[in-house]
Amino acid sequence: MNNIAVQCKGVAKTYGSGDTQVRALRGIDLEVKTGELMMLVGPSGSGKTTLISIIAGVLERDEGECMVFGHDFKNMNHREKAMFRGQNIGFVFQMFNLIPTLSAAENIAAPLLINGVKWRDALERAREVLSRVGMGDRTRSLPSELSGGQQQRVAIARAIVHNPKFIVCDEPTSALDHETGHKVMELLHDVVVGVDRALVVVTHDSRIFEFAHRIAKMDDGHIISVSDVRDFRLNEKLN
Ligand SMILES: Nc1ncnc2c1ncn2[C@@H]1O[C@H](COP(=O)(O)OP(=O)(O)OP(=O)(O)O)[C@@H](O)[C@H]1O
Ligand SMILES: [Mg+2]
Repeated sequence: MNNIAVQCKGVAKTYGSGDTQVRALRGIDLEVKTGELMMLVGPSGSGKTTLISIIAGVLERDEGECMVFGHDFKNMNHREKAMFRGQNIGFVFQMFNLIPTLSAAENIAAPLLINGVKWRDALERAREVLSRVGMGDRTRSLPSELSGGQQQRVAIARAIVHNPKFIVCDEPTSALDHETGHKVMELLHDVVVGVDRALVVVTHDSRIFEFAHRIAKMDDGHIISVSDVRDFRLNEKLN
């Protein structure tokens, strides 16, 4: 079987026009294999969020090719995209994007509805996943009643509740202490590794590099290197 989860070739994206134009991606080639946990690092503004948003079908590319498990979002209409994402993709947003009027459990249950799960079952599943991220006692809390780290764990629970084949996380441990961050990475790692799934994690957090299989480094809209974790650490020390 084909073991490629994500394949991007020459992906380019420009925001705005005229004087305010920003060339966020300038020709990205990237391959993520099934069973792989790839981390994406690079300075602020280098294009990390833009790239994962395009891969996850949240944002449209201007140029290039990008396939996720053999599917191209460009060939789907709005409804097909929503269905594909709802079944196959989990996204942890940099700013969490929780719905403020829904409780923690309801935030997680809501995306299951698109897959035809009944509300009562969806809430049950939501509570289970909340327990797995150590939030079992806060299922009824609104996002505004939770700390940043707690909101982040709700966002992570929402991204894995439907057992997606492909998960993208934008700085999933930025608001977590070392121990909680470690637990969350173990959980994400267990969800994807060894099966027909893949995970891409954007991070600045060197404490979680050990969970990566490979680390891709971005700068100014380009991927400037892709290395195994051990080589990456060595290079960082040398630079
Ligand atoms: N909606 C937008 N409109 C205009 N410019 C944008 C938009 N989103 C991002 N950009 C610009 O595109 C470039 C890449 O942004 P992106 O958010 O992908 O960077 P990033 O690597 O995720 O940065 P950070 O580490 O700060 O999250 C930046 O120069 C940014 O200002
Ligand atoms: Mg970003």
